[in-house]
Amino acid sequence: MITTDPNKFQAIISHAKEYGFVFPSSEIYDGLSAVYDYGPWGSELKKNIREQWWNSMTRMHDNIVGIDSAIFMHPTIWKASGHVDNFSDPMIDNKDSQKRYRVDHLIEGYAEELNKKGHPLEAENLISEMDKLLAASDFAGIKSLIETHNIKCAVSETCNWTDVRQFNLMFSTQLGSVAEEANEIYLRPETAQGIFVNFLNVQKTARMKIPFGIAQVGKAFRNEIVARQFIFRMREFEQMEMQFFIRPGTQKEWYAYWKEERMKWHTGLGFPADHYRFHDHVKLAHYADAAVDIEYAFPIGWKEVEGIHSRTDFDLASHQKFSGKKMQYFDNEINQNYIPYVIETSIGLDRMFLLTLSHAYTEETWTKEDGKEDSRVVLKIPPKLAPIKLAILPLLKKEGLPEIAREIMKDCRDDFYCFYEEKDTIGKRYRRMDALGTPFCVTIDHQTKDDQTVTIRYRDSMAQERIPISSIRDLVRQKTR
Ligand code: GAP
Repeated sequence: MITTDPNKFQAIISHAKEYGFVFPSSEIYDGLSAVYDYGPWGSELKKNIREQWWNSMTRMHDNIVGIDSAIFMHPTIWKASGHVDNFSDPMIDNKDSQKRYRVDHLIEGYAEELNKKGHPLEAENLISEMDKLLAASDFAGIKSLIETHNIKCAVSETCNWTDVRQFNLMFSTQLGSVAEEANEIYLRPETAQGIFVNFLNVQKTARMKIPFGIAQVGKAFRNEIVARQFIFRMREFEQMEMQFFIRPGTQKEWYAYWKEERMKWHTGLGFPADHYRFHDHVKLAHYADAAVDIEYAFPIGWKEVEGIHSRTDFDLASHQKFSGKKMQYFDNEINQNYIPYVIETSIGLDRMFLLTLSHAYTEETWTKEDGKEDSRVVLKIPPKLAPIKLAILPLLKKEGLPEIAREIMKDCRDDFYCFYEEKDTIGKRYRRMDALGTPFCVTIDHQTKDDQTVTIRYRDSMAQERIPISSIRDLVRQKTR
């Protein structure tokens, strides 16, 4: 049974800060809303997730290559992509508090309350009514839905709402000096367009034949109005996107293929299948003929972590129209020129990071042999994603033990991230490594000097055994691959 757990969510946020995973941005200036910095272990974990995704796309598929396109792009790209006209969310303002809400978030929040109060049917009906109205862009209907249910602003606690209006989510800035002709450009709201506009460059230079994919990881920016929930919804975030170019008419089979392939990636990392589900979009984005979210059971409920979109030839056709450049591919197997169709997989790196912490964060208590209670907080991060793979801990700071530990460090640090620590009692050091999610600790003691063995401690079971120094590297390498 999967249940929400807001306390666990708060505990994860505190843990992430205390142990150097995620800090609020600009904290000494009281922070910047919905912007976060990653600390030493957070940036390492984020890098490992990014690498797993990148390798699974580019190394494990002969027909996918990567690019790294610029964040700044020609402003007409966003006109062509439809973002200037369509990338907006319906919002509503509370007249008393002046607070602005995305209407779907406001209604979903209320539905969650209904669920908590034991009215799941009412909550379900409300969401399905909202979906219908949003799909029909019936904003007057949405406003009346909010009013009929007496959904209140959390700040003013009143139901005094404006009409529902659309707000564009793109950030804009000026290219060049202000004295020059004003040239408004946007911070990209998705990395995908950098792939589309490079479609022909990549196809030609990497000699790709359809079907083929282009992958990219990079920052995206959205002026999210309601940006709570920690790193779940940020204004600056990172996306890992792949556009798969296909022959028109084959989109249904490739859409099914990528749905399955992406779900396999998630569960293959070690995350439990019963915490995932697909959620078909009711209201399709302006570019899609089919779309599905991969949702995960976060402590704050089922939430989207990844989207798979059948984008038709919308983007390439539109860029062809706006740029006047042909975006076609000659398919010599069928002797035809066409604009390829596209299946997109798009996952938020920060959201995947939050998913990892949500899965990993565990509070354990148990009774020891002497009858006393003991407890720990452990991050059960899948070993291949763990920031530190091996902690190397000399039992004492003297008697030659640090020297042996340093030798082990020298032997292993080329292959995986090692961490050396000689301060504090061994018990405290184990606890600290548990809190950072380190899957293996080795302790060097006096016996090591006699027989060249160490104690290895396994994070999840806390079991310990003696192994030869010569086998440490292979063991850790094998179990963290
Ligand atoms: N190119 C398609 C696209 O951008 P999307 O559903 O808007 O589609 C894809 O975004 C993914 O990016 C989402 O599934 C989510 O993981 C992540 N994402 C979107 N907005 C985000 C935000 N404000 N903060 C963090 N991650 C976000």
